[in-house]
Amino acid sequence: MADVAEALRTYWNDRGPVWVEYRERLDAMLAPLGEAAIARLHPDPGEHVLDIGCGTGTTSLELARLVGEAGHVTGVDVSAPMLDEARRRAVDAGLGNTEFVVADAGAHQFEPRHFDAAFSRMGIMFFAEPVAGFTNLRRALRPGGRLTFVCWRSPAENSWVTEPGQAVAEVLGPPDPMDPDAPGPFSLASADRISSVLTGAGLVDIDITPHDLPVNIGGGTTDELVRYYVDLLPGAAIPENADEHVIDRVKAALGAMVDRRRTADGITMGAAAWLVSARA
Ligand SMILES: C[S@@+](CC[C@H](N)C(=O)[O-])C[C@H]1O[C@@H](n2cnc3c(N)ncnc32)[C@H](O)[C@@H]1O
Repeated sequence: MADVAEALRTYWNDRGPVWVEYRERLDAMLAPLGEAAIARLHPDPGEHVLDIGCGTGTTSLELARLVGEAGHVTGVDVSAPMLDEARRRAVDAGLGNTEFVVADAGAHQFEPRHFDAAFSRMGIMFFAEPVAGFTNLRRALRPGGRLTFVCWRSPAENSWVTEPGQAVAEVLGPPDPMDPDAPGPFSLASADRISSVLTGAGLVDIDITPHDLPVNIGGGTTDELVRYYVDLLPGAAIPENADEHVIDRVKAALGAMVDRRRTADGITMGAAAWLVSARA
């Protein structure tokens, strides 16, 4: 499992600069999910909140505004380039009640019973050992402290990932089957699995609510949108050893999908998530 954790750390550090580059597009897509989860967490002024897998810091900054100067937000993420961006943004926003820690949230030794609440927008599905990871988070919460996060339901319910995936599969064929429980964006797609992982971690008062909504990745030229898909989407990546003709055909298939789906408001597709809350 140490190997899995190390591979994930390397992956997210390598991907960091691309996530920084596309931050605004990603934020536009994820904003409604983050807002719903923050509303459910309902941070109060003065609280100490942990933002798990905080990436470039958008939700950490929002949480910091809500807890105010008497409160504090710690963003934790394995990706150093993303946290550099989060720190820069916190300084620009004058939010001195934030700190950002480069660490695996599933293993880092947080101060025990420290946080009033823990939160994540799509940053909590990547633990090499989920029960151990959530146990680690529970120990960082004060007794009764709240955990609220939003995570994806199954790929089949998320056309934002299946549609570009189908375009790529037209050229490359179907992707290799994946272990649904392996760390990755869809590892908590099953409500039963969330329930068993959180219960195994000693969390209580578990509530798992479906949340369906359209997500918008914005507009741009066909080339810009194709590049976004190739750079960022799970399943849309072109294999490193693919030859030029194959690459061109994949881009053409994605371009056709983009042109088919584009509206005056950019590209909007369906998304399905779980809003999850629990207590330590
Ligand atoms: C899908 S991104 C979401 C980022 C951010 N929460 C947002 O909404 O923009 C997943 C994030 O989780 C981070 N991550 C993955 N595994 C992690 C771990 N074990 N501990 C902390 N962060 C992790 C990644 O580096 C990445 O920033």
